[in-house]
Amino acid sequence: MPESFQQAAPLNIKAQYDLSDLNTLSLAGEAEYFARFNSISELLSLLEYAKNKQLKLKVLGGGSNMIVQPQVNGLVLQSAMQGIKKLAEDDATVTYAVDAGLNWHQWVLQSIELGAYGIENLALIPGTVGACPIQNIGAYGVEVGQCIEEVRGLQLSSGQCMSFTAAQCDFSYRDSIFKKQYKNDFIITQVIFKLSKHFKPQTAYAPLKQMAEQFVEDNSAQLLSAKQIANWVIEVRNSKLPDPKIIPNAGSFFTNPIIPKSQADELLSQFPNMPVYAVQGSSKNKEVLVKVAAGWLIDQCGWKGKSLGLAKMHDQQALVLTLQAGASQQDLINIQQAVQVDVNNKFGIGLQPEPQPFC
Ligand code: EPU
Repeated sequence: MPESFQQAAPLNIKAQYDLSDLNTLSLAGEAEYFARFNSISELLSLLEYAKNKQLKLKVLGGGSNMIVQPQVNGLVLQSAMQGIKKLAEDDATVTYAVDAGLNWHQWVLQSIELGAYGIENLALIPGTVGACPIQNIGAYGVEVGQCIEEVRGLQLSSGQCMSFTAAQCDFSYRDSIFKKQYKNDFIITQVIFKLSKHFKPQTAYAPLKQMAEQFVEDNSAQLLSAKQIANWVIEVRNSKLPDPKIIPNAGSFFTNPIIPKSQADELLSQFPNMPVYAVQGSSKNKEVLVKVAAGWLIDQCGWKGKSLGLAKMHDQQALVLTLQAGASQQDLINIQQAVQVDVNNKFGIGLQPEPQPFC
């Protein structure tokens, strides 16, 4: 690491820092130490500080995919860097480097303003740009990995700057290298997006398809814009998903389980309405795999709108676990386990939570 770290500006490190406003489940928790950084040199100084003090490093994005524990040991880092920089352009595409600390939805809106298309279906997803590659955020027929060219950051254990091409990120459904080999040992500082200059509506998801068909019938295909798609996505999300500022939640609480097609076929003979989706290029021991809708499984077990203690599965979307003010980690665990047991008993499927413990 450069020698200049010793002389770097004083780092704004806070001790016993309250994290309850920094996670969308609003769980009470305290970080032993917490710091936001405004530059890569500040980040390097923080890594050096942690190394000298033998503090573990933890990375916090928008706090929308984590289950904060009451005591979080070590130094929690959060990027305050929010720059957007055009890197390249040709007739068809434009490439932007976006800093990890920027709010994801702000970037989606900004990309549309800039005439750079591809991520409009991902409007209103909570979190930051830096968090988006980790679980390869996806909604309404689009996964962010399709638009990412490169992910840049630092390995926490070595302080080494690293960059991953999209192929190296190994994106798949709600998964990437950052949840595997680099789990807990990498901080994403910047994401490079390659977006299209020509808007092509992505309306494979049924509700969007209906809205687009109606729009084209009433207007004309030329008037269908990325802004319009983003507005529909916002409308659909607002109708199903609670606003975490009002009702604490972390979006989909479980991932949609991926199971062998043979198992799904057996279940379909008993539950013909079970939603099943193809998983591209996915197989295990030569067996074809499919994805089933966790929200439907939970709903079928009677959990939609049902509470346990201070936790509840959302009335409009059973996949979303919500908490009341003052709910504890134990309230969350209780309902999580009760739902898992019921789904397992009825369908023989083990649901996996999407948010990860932050401790
Ligand atoms: N369903 C029910 N009951 C419910 C919820 C869903 O029967 O309570 C059924 C629906 O009718 C539909 C199917 O289950 O047939 C799937 O539901 P939906 O279209 O709402 O999508 P999802 O699979 O539950 C996934 C993502 C969402 C994303 C939507 C739309 C995951 C874990 N979740 O949900 O992502 O917005 O698709 O693309 O893959 C998030 O990650 O936080 C998130 C909201």
